Amino acid sequence: MSIVLRDVYRAFGTNQVLRGLDLEVQDGETLSVIGFSGAGKSVVLKHMVGLIRPDSGDVVVDGKNVNELDVEELNALRRDVGYVFQFAALFDSMSIAENVAMGLRRVPGTYEEEIVSRVRECLALVELEGIEDQYPSELSGGMVKRAGLARAIATRPKYLLYDEPTTGLDPVTVTVIDRLIVRMKEELGVTGIVVTHDIESAYRISDRIAMLHDGRIRICGTVDEIRGSDDPLLRSFLEGRPELAKRAS
Ligand SMILES: Nc1ncnc2c1ncn2[C@@H]1O[C@H](COP(=O)(O)OP(=O)(O)OP(=O)(O)O)[C@@H](O)[C@H]1O
Ligand SMILES: [Mg+2]
Repeated sequence: MSIVLRDVYRAFGTNQVLRGLDLEVQDGETLSVIGFSGAGKSVVLKHMVGLIRPDSGDVVVDGKNVNELDVEELNALRRDVGYVFQFAALFDSMSIAENVAMGLRRVPGTYEEEIVSRVRECLALVELEGIEDQYPSELSGGMVKRAGLARAIATRPKYLLYDEPTTGLDPVTVTVIDRLIVRMKEELGVTGIVVTHDIESAYRISDRIAMLHDGRIRICGTVDEIRGSDDPLLRSFLEGRPELAKRAS
């Protein structure tokens, strides 16, 4: 049991986004989180690295209650938890190599040669060889997205949070990223949480899939269970049929 959210409530002003959310991510699994736009998927991920704090409830990552960590402990946690942001969030004034190396430089005792070779290796994994000296503004949207992924895996984290890692990418690149997510799990034992709208990709990469709705997990199960579910809201989401959701609420 590596990441646990227990009875988490979070509002922004009068907008009550999370309403008693319970979610357990098992060690070594890949869990995809699906749900309608605005459901709070990114908010859930941000709770897991302390970027957003719950109003009430517990967020426990790797045995630590995120709410109780001081700045130093939070930084240590973030080295173990790689985060692929929905909108890449690269620093425009830094080269791609500098962006990817950011987390590595914070690890004490890391040699420059190690950093250079790790950056090269991570860029190769996302099929971006040789772009070290370019700047984010010189890349396409999909390339920036993959560079963000390279940055997240550079410190070899135990956990990887992916916020829509394949949105806006061409079908071949989607397959490359899907395979990378599976490799991270199978070869490195990474526990992955993937927020995605791409249900076909979720079926390919996930051990389990959870649907976030009305501030809670509406349904959570294996790929086969989700495929076979007749929950009207889930079907509405999977099939893109709003009329089913209306009947469910
Ligand atoms: N920092 C913030 N301040 C105020 N409101 C916020 C903040 N972050 C998120 N919200 C609100 O929380 C709700 C959920 O946002 P979130 O970004 O988690 O949705 P999402 O499920 O990731 O949607 P999408 O699929 O479009 O990315 C939205 O109503 C959003 O406006
Ligand atoms: Mg989002």
